[in-house]
Amino acid sequence: MKNDKISVIGCGNLGKSIAKGLLNHNEFSSNNVIATRRNLSFIEDLKEAGADITSDNLYAVSNSNIILIAVKPYNVSKIINEIKPVLKEDKHIIVSLATGLGTAEISDMLDNKFPIYRAMPNIAANIGESVTCICSKNSNQEQTEKVKFIFDAVGESLIINEELMEAATILGACGIAFVFRFIRAMIQGGIQIGFDANTAKKIVSQTVKGAAQMLQENNDHPESEIDKVTTPKGCTIVGLNEMEHQGFSSSLIKGIINSFEKIEK
Ligand SMILES: NC(=O)c1ccc[n+]([C@@H]2O[C@H](COP(=O)([O-])OP(=O)(O)OC[C@H]3O[C@@H](n4cnc5c(N)ncnc54)[C@H](OP(=O)(O)O)[C@@H]3O)[C@@H](O)[C@H]2O)c1
Repeated sequence: MKNDKISVIGCGNLGKSIAKGLLNHNEFSSNNVIATRRNLSFIEDLKEAGADITSDNLYAVSNSNIILIAVKPYNVSKIINEIKPVLKEDKHIIVSLATGLGTAEISDMLDNKFPIYRAMPNIAANIGESVTCICSKNSNQEQTEKVKFIFDAVGESLIINEELMEAATILGACGIAFVFRFIRAMIQGGIQIGFDANTAKKIVSQTVKGAAQMLQENNDHPESEIDKVTTPKGCTIVGLNEMEHQGFSSSLIKGIINSFEKIEK
């Protein structure tokens, strides 16, 4: 990656998080990141961190070989038409973050001449903890490793089949909202049993973080960890069973399926 230069076109919420992740990566030189958006005042901090910032997308693309398109989906074709004249077949890799836009559609816009990647991170990219699902068209192993490197800089990345990309959007990108809602409900319960909101948030956030980290590090099934804390006739199983009687797992699963049905439409 030392010889690669990355342009992030459209440094809004997500693009900026990814640019930041790259700038913080010790195997990647900050001189190799170009960040664009029309209103540069929002990305002055990227400049301070070493990135080249500009509103000139053509300059960015001409001076880089990996192009991350991080604008809203409805702006992608406009950006592609704008940068097309300076794209070179033997040089550029295109990576789109746009929700719902397939690699075939993007490839068509570029006359099927370029390696195209589609990546679905989530907003935890902001703190380097995204999960990013990636698929591609017209790509090779070396290019895939480069693209994976970018998203590993802001969390973890997985290569998946494109047919699962909508499911990845629901589970990973929308999923973070589902987790936040779960956390909010836990905090509300915590307040009702005696904690102030801030203390409840601290306890719940660290509990969720610990649980997630245990699953990642121990590679266990959640249910076997639950078994360890459910004493027979104890308070944990009473709470868990009441949650299930009220439809806890079922409502989460139904929510995920409804979101998926919506995105499929
Ligand atoms: N947020 C998520 O959780 C999430 C997750 C996965 C994927 N995505 C996808 O990621 C993409 C970005 O989402 P976001 O939430 O980061 O949107 P966002 O905050 O609106 O960022 C898009 C940025 O593009 C810039 N822009 C628009 N036109 C431009 C142009 N012609 N040249 C350069 N920059 C331009 C805008 O800044 P200026 O107005 O200053 O130019 C804006 O800040 C979307 O396609 C979305 O579907 C988002």
